[in-house]
Amino acid sequence: MTDQTAVCRRLVGRTAVITGAGSGIGLATARRLASEGAHIVCADIDEVAGKAAAEEVGGTFVQVDVTDSDQVEALYKTAFDTYGSVDIAFNNAGISPPDDDSILTTGLDAWKRVQEVNLTSVYLCCKHALPYMQRQGKGSIINTASFVAVMGAATSQISYTASKGGVLSMSRELGVQFAREGIRVNALCPGPVNTPLLKELFAKDPERAARRLVHVPVGRFAEPEEIASAVAFLASDDSSFVNAAEFLVDGGIAGAYVTPV
Ligand SMILES: NC(=O)c1ccc[n+]([C@@H]2O[C@H](COP(=O)([O-])OP(=O)(O)OC[C@H]3O[C@@H](n4cnc5c(N)ncnc54)[C@H](O)[C@@H]3O)[C@@H](O)[C@H]2O)c1
Repeated sequence: MTDQTAVCRRLVGRTAVITGAGSGIGLATARRLASEGAHIVCADIDEVAGKAAAEEVGGTFVQVDVTDSDQVEALYKTAFDTYGSVDIAFNNAGISPPDDDSILTTGLDAWKRVQEVNLTSVYLCCKHALPYMQRQGKGSIINTASFVAVMGAATSQISYTASKGGVLSMSRELGVQFAREGIRVNALCPGPVNTPLLKELFAKDPERAARRLVHVPVGRFAEPEEIASAVAFLASDDSSFVNAAEFLVDGGIAGAYVTPV
């Protein structure tokens, strides 16, 4: 991993709205985009975590449930009223609850909840961020999908996978629709990331970890900072010709047939 944070100042004066900024990938991205000079609006349903993130990066906290249209609309209004623009929308909040499992055992409630938080939320965030970007004639939207949007797993989380496929297709379509208005929309597809939840799960069950690690050519999971640096690239003008992309940051998982021993 290289530390670019000291040298890159690609986002000076821009406003970035990050959902799920209180934890994991969202938190690492809040830190990274702030270090590149952006004003950060940290949105999270978790007040304690979201506030702490905003304080750390000198940004603004907005408590929001990303499944609620009015709250999402208010989020972007706050960003605009506070900083005068909405340049970057990182629509990242998501859940993967244990009751979302095989299609044979996953109930309709679990299915719907995951669709709401992972997919409807991205629809709402794009819908309410786009008008600001249209008025500005520029903007970068990054929607968090997942590598499971492009490949199947025998260890199924059926609604999660379907929701991420939806995020990927929606991002592609929006990227095409708004391209000539100076707005880029990309789907970020991370591989498995070393978050506290994943660490705890795999520490308890090394076989479960090994079953997954064998598919990763680089032989390890990503660190949240490695995903954040990809977001920073997509947010910045360095990616000015990257649009409607399926942006895989997966250590080579999706490209692999046989991995090194
Ligand atoms: N961790 C991984 O291995 C991995 C891999 C691929 C994709 N992803 C995706 O990346 C995104 C972030 O994952 P993470 O691992 O950092 O998760 P995380 O659980 O560490 O953080 C998610 C954040 O979203 C917030 N959130 C949850 N529901 C919300 C709601 N309704 N409204 C507002 N905020 C809400 C949570 O409070 C939390 O702070 C998710 O979309 C996830 O599906 C994660």
